[in-house]
Amino acid sequence: MKILVLNGSPKGERSDTLHITRAFLDGMQSAAPQDVQLIHVNAQHIDYCIGCFACKKNGGVCVLDDDMREILDAMLDADLLIFSFPLYSYGMPGALKNLIDRMMPLSSWNMVKNAEGKYGHRMQYDVEKLHYMMICGCGFPNSKHNFEGAVRQFSLKFPERSTIVTVPESPMFNIPQAAAFVAPRLKAFRAAGCEYAATGALSEQTLAAICSPMIPEEIYAQFANGERR
Ligand SMILES: Cc1cc2nc3c(=O)[nH]c(=O)nc-3n(C[C@H](O)[C@H](O)[C@H](O)COP(=O)(O)O)c2cc1C
Repeated sequence: MKILVLNGSPKGERSDTLHITRAFLDGMQSAAPQDVQLIHVNAQHIDYCIGCFACKKNGGVCVLDDDMREILDAMLDADLLIFSFPLYSYGMPGALKNLIDRMMPLSSWNMVKNAEGKYGHRMQYDVEKLHYMMICGCGFPNSKHNFEGAVRQFSLKFPERSTIVTVPESPMFNIPQAAAFVAPRLKAFRAAGCEYAATGALSEQTLAAICSPMIPEEIYAQFANGERR
C-alpha cells in the first residue's frame, strides 16, 4: 500500500504525535510491506489559497506554483493519507489547515447533494481508492470537550473511507521517565496498525484502547502542574 504521511506538527521529527504514527506504521509494515512517504508540512513552501476558484474551472490546476503541486501528485498516487498532527486551539495547526485548503483543485465547481442532504463539490480527479486517517495528539489529560472540533472538521472534509484516532496526554511520548506507561501504548498502536493493514479499519474495541488516557487524568495534571515528581 502507498502511504503518504502529512506531519502537521511544527516540531517535525520531534513531534509527540509522530511517535504514535510511527508505531502505527510499524504495525502496518509487520502485516505487509508498505511504501511510506513522510512530509513535514511546515518545511514545505505552501502559499495560502487565494480563493480564485480557477482550479475548479480549468480542470484542476492551481494558479500557485509551489510545493503543493508535488504534494497533490503524491496524494493522487497514494492509497492512504495519514494526517498526523497535534491539537491546536481545538483544531488542526494552521499550516496543515492551509494544506487542506490547497486540496481545492481535486474537486470541480459542480455541487452535488448526498443522501443526507449535504452539498459538496464533485471530484475532478479519481480519489476513489484513497483512504484517510487522522492521528491527533493533545496536551490535556482527557478527550472531553477537546477533540470535537477537529474530529467534526475531519469527518466533514473526508466523510468516506476515513478513520480517526485521538490521543490525550501525548507529551508523554517524548518524556523518558514515562517510558513504562508509554511502551504498552506503543505496542497497542503497533497492533492497531497491523489490524488496519489487514482489515482497512479499526474496531470500536481497538479505538477505545488506543484513545484512552495512559495514566489517570488527575495524576497527569499533577505532573504537568509540577505538583508531583
Ligand atoms: C498553539 C498551541 C495550541 C494548543 N492547543 C491545544 C488544545 O486545544 N488542546 C490540547 O489538549 N492541547 C493543546 N495544545 C498542546 C499540544 O496539542 C500538545 O503539546 C501536543 O502533544 C503537541 O504534539 P506535537 O509534539 O506532535 O506537536 C496546544 C499547543 C500549542 C502550541
